Formats: sequence, C-alpha cells, structure tokens
Amino acid sequence: MARLAPHAARNLGRRLPELIADEPDRFAATTLRVGPLLACFARQRIDAPAAAALREVARERGVAEAIAALFEGEPVNRSENRPALHTALRSDLASSAVARAAHAQAREARARMAQQIDALRASEVTDIVNVGIGGSDLGARLTLEALRELDPGRFRVHFLSTVDGHAASHLLRQLDPARTAAVLVSKSFSTRETLLNAQVLREWMGADDRFHAVTANVDRARSLGIAAERILPMWDWVGGRYSLWSAVGFSVAAALGMEVFERLLAGAAQMDEHVRRAPLEANLAVRHALVAVWNRNALGYDTHAVLPYDARLARLPAYLQQLVMESLGKSATQAGAPVPCATGPVIWGGAGTDVQHSFFQSLHQGTDTVPMDFIGIARADHGSPVQHRALLANLLAQAEAFANGAPGADPQRAYPGSRPSTMILLDALTPESLGALVALYEHSVYVQATIWGINPFDQWGVELGKRLAADLDTAIDSPESAADPITRALIEALRQRARP
Ligand code: F6P
Repeated sequence: MARLAPHAARNLGRRLPELIADEPDRFAATTLRVGPLLACFARQRIDAPAAAALREVARERGVAEAIAALFEGEPVNRSENRPALHTALRSDLASSAVARAAHAQAREARARMAQQIDALRASEVTDIVNVGIGGSDLGARLTLEALRELDPGRFRVHFLSTVDGHAASHLLRQLDPARTAAVLVSKSFSTRETLLNAQVLREWMGADDRFHAVTANVDRARSLGIAAERILPMWDWVGGRYSLWSAVGFSVAAALGMEVFERLLAGAAQMDEHVRRAPLEANLAVRHALVAVWNRNALGYDTHAVLPYDARLARLPAYLQQLVMESLGKSATQAGAPVPCATGPVIWGGAGTDVQHSFFQSLHQGTDTVPMDFIGIARADHGSPVQHRALLANLLAQAEAFANGAPGADPQRAYPGSRPSTMILLDALTPESLGALVALYEHSVYVQATIWGINPFDQWGVELGKRLAADLDTAIDSPESAADPITRALIEALRQRARP
C-alpha cells in the first residue's frame, strides 16, 4: 500500500470540486453501467494517476486470478479448506467439475423448494415464520422488504432471529398455531438462538408437520424430528452470509413466488457474468473494491456509510454490516501473518431522507470524514411523482453538498465539502436490480479481501462469545461456577435485581 501514499497526499491536498473541474470527462471516465445498475465514482478523491496506481495494486495482488478461482470452486476459504461457490447458486459460468456439480445441486434443491412451497400454498397455512439469524435471516428480510410491491399477499412472513423471548412471545400472540408454518434456517443447525426459538415454536404449534428446515446438517435436523422430505439442503461450499440465493430464500420464494425468486437470481447472475468477464479496468466490483481500499488504506477513513434513498431498502445497511464486517473484520492473513494495513471499515447507515434529520449533521461538519455509498432508484413504484421528485432532489442535493461544501465567514456555518461518495443508481427496484446490487457488494468484498490477503469466508471471531455464552447459561443459576470475577459479580447483581 506504500505506493498509494504519494497519491493520497496529492489528492488530500486538493479540494474535491477542483479535482472534478480539472477532468472534463470525469463523469464518463468514472461511471460504469451493468444491466439495471449504474455506479458513478466521480466524487471519490481519486485522480487519474491514483486510479492507475490502484489498478496496479489489483494486478499485483492477483485479483483477476482470484476471481477466476472463486467461480471455478477452488478452495478460496483456506482456513476451512473449502470453495465459496455462492455464484454457482445462480450462475452457470464455470467449467470445473466442482462448480458445475454445485450448480446442478442448487437447481435440484430449488426444484424441491418449489414443490414444498406449492404444497404450502395448497394448505390452510396463512403465516410463515422464518427462524434463523445472521445469514439465515438478513438476506430474506432485506429482499422481502425491498420487493414488497410484488407480494400477492398469499402468506404473511415473519422473522424470528434473536433469542430474546420478547420477540417470540410478541410474534406468537399475533398468530394462529393451526395456520402457521415454520422454516428453520440454519446452515449448522447448531445455532443456539435458532434452536431455542424452534423449540418455543414447536411447543406452541404442538405439531411437527408444518416444520421445514434448510440446513447443511441434515442429520441434526432429522434428529430434532423434521421429516426428510421437508429438509432442504445447504452445503459447506456456501457461506451463511452469501446464502440468500439458496433455499435460505425459502420465505422469499414462498411469499413472492418462484418466478420472482428466479428473477432475483438472474439479476445476481448478470452481475456475476460481468465480474467474471470484464477486464480489471472496466470491472464494476473491482472498481468498487479499489475505492474501498483507497478510502481505508490511503486516506485512513475508518467507517463507511450506506445510504439508500428508498424506504424499501432500509435494511440494506444491516445486511451489509454482516456481509462486510463478518467477511473483512480480520487482522490475520490467509497465511496466518498479521495484516500489515487496516482492513474492513465499520459499516453503518440508514435510509434517506430520514437520516438527513439524524446523523447527516455529523457527516457534513463533523471532524471525521465518512465515505458514503448513495443508492437511488430512478423509477418509483407508487403513484406520487411529486414525492419521488422530492426524494431524488434530496439524494442529489446531499451528494452535491458533501462533495462541494460551501464557504462561510463563520466557521460554524461553513461546509468543508470534499466528503467522498459513490452514487449507485438502479433503474427501478426490481428482483433483477436487487440481485445485481447484492451480488456487486459480495464481489466487492471478495476483491477487497484478495487485496488484503484475508479470508472473507470464515468468521472465527464469533466463536469465543458463542462458547462462553454456552458456559454461562449454566453459571447464571450457579454463579460460583463462573470463572471470571467480574462476570461472577454481574451474575450476582442480575440475580438480586431479578427478584420480584
Ligand atoms: O454469526 C455467526 C454465524 O455463524 C453467521 O456467520 C451465520 O450467518 C449465523 O451465525 C447463523 O448461522 P447458522 O445458519 O449456522 O444458524
């Protein structure tokens, strides 16, 4: 990354509007379109020589080869010695036997999922509860909210993720046990939250015949009483946070229909095709990733805001928090050495225009610069053009204000500007454009990980907390067994306060 330092100094020494004014064809030179999605990087603090240096980094780090390795099913997840074949769930672009077999398995699983959904449709079931957490929850939630205009209303879908019993009891009060089906989504089938919620639901429903499961641990699901014909597979070659495209999307396919689900996959496949075939300099995922690396390593920005200007995408920041932070929150390389530079930023954000009235003040005038991804939708799916025009005007105004700022004699009223952002525009919010958008982020994450030499497909950091929680589950009733003195004291405090 040292090669980026002189470029960073030069770009930081200039205001963003000057940099833009110096390059008359900057919009064209920094904008890429893939299918229904257009991304403009003109307002990043990157001049042409810096962009060339970044491409050189990508070449040196073997990004093109790494993309080929991902698609072909090489064991890119080295700590677990596995491929990461989420692309095979939606695309048939690879020639290796392992990737082709994965693609065939995925198609077969989708056919079985369609049958199960047909059976549910023909039943009395009115409500489906998706029981799962993290990657077994967030993608389906995001998709159902984003595509709610396409919901014909056959099923109401609910999500039960946290182990907090208030969530389950609040949900169950609204449902009829005789008309509810549950989909237990857990790759491992050992996630405590999901198993406990499943147990609560099972006792409440009093029957097993409306329980479906999606898991890579079929034996465990069977041992918990779920019939084999209602278990859909996952595979160790798909990471949980990359699994929306598998039967993990059961509730999406059930609510919106298989045809909509297939369109979501087709949108992701279109992005796959682009990422697999486009040269580095015209590759959208590579460009998005290089901008992220630049902001993190060359300019030293710690966080990144995701700002969809569409209420239906309000969950996108939460989805990307898992995708990016579980994938890139690493400080050791795939080879086990310390990473010599900063890796993934903290991802946060929210939907516009609400966020303009909460955290935007800090983004405009705070002491930290936060790079941003704005996401806008050209065509609305409601009948109020006035509102859509106002929404787009706000989107454009904010991005412009962040970039250009405004001088002021009074420092309290001056806008520094030069706050970098990327503008991603979708023609409309459709299954295809959503699929392409999510796949873009997946690929960008992979390219960033390649540049940093880290593994974006494992998550060892979450294991310690899980193990301790299992131990402390017992210690809450017998504090003396807790090893840590502060935890012991806190358990005592909780016990005293829990007494009525
Ligand atoms: O948070 C850790 C994690 O393993 C995630 O990676 C995963 O998406 C989530 O838990 C749920 O895991 P599972 O699908 O195995 O229940």
